[in-house]
Amino acid sequence: MLSRRNFLTAAVGVAAAGGLTACAKKDDNSSSSSSGGSKTITLGFSQVGSESGWRSANTTSVKDAAKEAGYNLKFSDAQQKQENQISAIRSYIAQKVDVIAFSPVVVTGWDAVLKEAKAAKIPVVLTDRSVETSDDSLYVTLVGSDFTDEGRRAGKILEKVLEKAGHKGAVKIAQLEGTTGAAPAIERAKGFKEVMDADHKDDWKIVVSQTGDFTRAGGKQVMAAFLQSNPDINVLFAHNDDMAIGAIQSIEAAGKKPGKDILIVSIDGVKDGFVAMSEGKINAIVECNPLLGPQLMDTVKKVKAGETVERWIKTKEGDFMQDQAKAALPSRKY
Ligand code: AHR
Repeated sequence: MLSRRNFLTAAVGVAAAGGLTACAKKDDNSSSSSSGGSKTITLGFSQVGSESGWRSANTTSVKDAAKEAGYNLKFSDAQQKQENQISAIRSYIAQKVDVIAFSPVVVTGWDAVLKEAKAAKIPVVLTDRSVETSDDSLYVTLVGSDFTDEGRRAGKILEKVLEKAGHKGAVKIAQLEGTTGAAPAIERAKGFKEVMDADHKDDWKIVVSQTGDFTRAGGKQVMAAFLQSNPDINVLFAHNDDMAIGAIQSIEAAGKKPGKDILIVSIDGVKDGFVAMSEGKINAIVECNPLLGPQLMDTVKKVKAGETVERWIKTKEGDFMQDQAKAALPSRKY
């Protein structure tokens, strides 16, 4: 199994991809571009779904960037179901697209379909989320964030939030996890726990943790149940802004003040998250940048041309405390 950490250090050349690319050219059935010379790249893209504001921004970024690059984009929305993504990838293989890109809903269970893509000599580029495979050559690269680091950053920023709030005593944390089995859910939880284990063994405790599936409705429902079972929760760590926003509704319905009675740290940095932060309801946000389209198109072009690309092309991101929210809000792009 290959972890993100392993392939971070393995910024390898993609000899395998070069092989795939060379053969993909042989099978090339893509149409000629209007300018004559070069061929239009046909890219098959399988999106996770439309579960969050982050995802909507990511979809728009991919579609706009493909248009800008002049690619023939075949796009499908898997509605958070792995079987739909597998069917979409099989259909792209059958259509002999030049490159397949996808954002895997979960990390495991991809070997068979990726082997089919490899046999058809179609290179695969992962975007946003990683997979665990038995064979490194089944995909060329990942364009996306370091989710473990985002979890660590959430832990570190919680320290600042607690200090700013003048919090004394036990920190009783509720964790709203992302989709079960998805890379950002696994890795954000892991990074956050690393900070807890290293520096807060005695004073912080995750008292409840459950998936809200990265959705607002999930966050609202699960937070309501958390508050029933653990009315003394004083911190919420939400794996994304949408779940935090849903949770805020349940916190208010329970007669508590989000951002005061329950301190909230979330991940993403979508506009609605910044609005909640500027209203004092979220205390800090760790950014996860969804605008991956331009980097993805650039990578696809290189892969198609047989150029070497890094094994993991990482995204640049920042962290925001509440007092930065109002100033940052007008310039948020998603
Ligand atoms: O994979 C990225 C995550 O997926 C985002 O943080 C979340 O909002 C989305 O649903």
